[in-house]
Amino acid sequence: DKPVYILGIESSCDDTSASVICNAKVLSNVVANQEVHAKYGGVVPELASRAHQQNIVPVVQQALEQANITKDQLSAIAFTKGPGLMGSLLVGTSFAKSLAMGLQIPLIDVNHMQGHILAHFIDETDCKIPTFPFICLTISGGHTQIVKVSNHFEMEILGETIDDAVGEAFDKSAKILGLPYPGGPLIDKHAKLGNPKAYKFTKPKVGDLDFSFSGLKTGILYFIQKQERMNPNFIKENLNDICASIQGTIVEILMDKLKNAVKQTGIKNIAIAGGVSANSEIRSRLLLAEKHFGWNTYIPKFEYTTDNAAMIAITGYLKYLNNDYADVSVTAKARLKV
Ligand code: KG4
Ligand code: ZN
Repeated sequence: DKPVYILGIESSCDDTSASVICNAKVLSNVVANQEVHAKYGGVVPELASRAHQQNIVPVVQQALEQANITKDQLSAIAFTKGPGLMGSLLVGTSFAKSLAMGLQIPLIDVNHMQGHILAHFIDETDCKIPTFPFICLTISGGHTQIVKVSNHFEMEILGETIDDAVGEAFDKSAKILGLPYPGGPLIDKHAKLGNPKAYKFTKPKVGDLDFSFSGLKTGILYFIQKQERMNPNFIKENLNDICASIQGTIVEILMDKLKNAVKQTGIKNIAIAGGVSANSEIRSRLLLAEKHFGWNTYIPKFEYTTDNAAMIAITGYLKYLNNDYADVSVTAKARLKV
């Protein structure tokens, strides 16, 4: 069979990314993080679209160079259609359309959330490919979902957050502690040195497979404010323990929901995906679950957890094999369901 080269383009939020894959193997995966948002404590949509506009051409050129191919060798262009920030999505969508038109090759639209899940089908020597059907806990800065995946394109949301996403819970907690955006990785770092049992936070009460994180965030805020009134150095003196306790509570919530999902569906193939699946505690708890509950667990390679274009390219490749192409009149969609 002739090798299929797909260029993937991801621009749904604040990372501009391009990746070239050959069949299911990643040749390059370039991610340009946008530094501009850190000082605002969150993503500023207007600044994100401008940075995408600046980054997109150099990032694509770099992805082609690193893959050591020319644009004329590409078989198709895959891009993120949504969900995400409209202004950000438009940059990737317009660029992908024009390039596909110029090269006269197929254009493939990709759902970002499906991309996070299908990143598990990238061919990596040290990673298992999930067996269908499997349950995927998709956890990112914008989403928190439990998805039943019956095949590459048949996905059903069994539960999701009714308010904040789990990534937001990490980032907003970090903000309360005075840590810069995005705070998730920093909470993870400090948590490694702390005691997860030091402080207790109340877990939310929601439906079996649904999530809620806004109450937890408020609980953490009130707790910190109260402690700081008594000891203005409370955060400074106890940062590691606070982070470990917050992370421990969040990961416990996630694990409880996964156990519920296994009970309800009888499916024991469990995957995690999305930016928060980079978290060291959820990764190690999932590994333990193989031993303790007999689950088959699938943990993505670190570089395919947070937003990246390799996940868009692999989804594009799977759609390419099905001749599932987009029309040139395709439009970006800020709200797009799995
Ligand atoms: O998937 P992603 O890159 O972007 C969205 O689609 O939202 O996820 C970003 C989120 C941020 O909230 C970030 O704080 C969180 O993933 N994150 C982490 C870790 N690494 C990234 N949260 C906890 N622990 C980590 N190690
Ligand atoms: Zn994402």
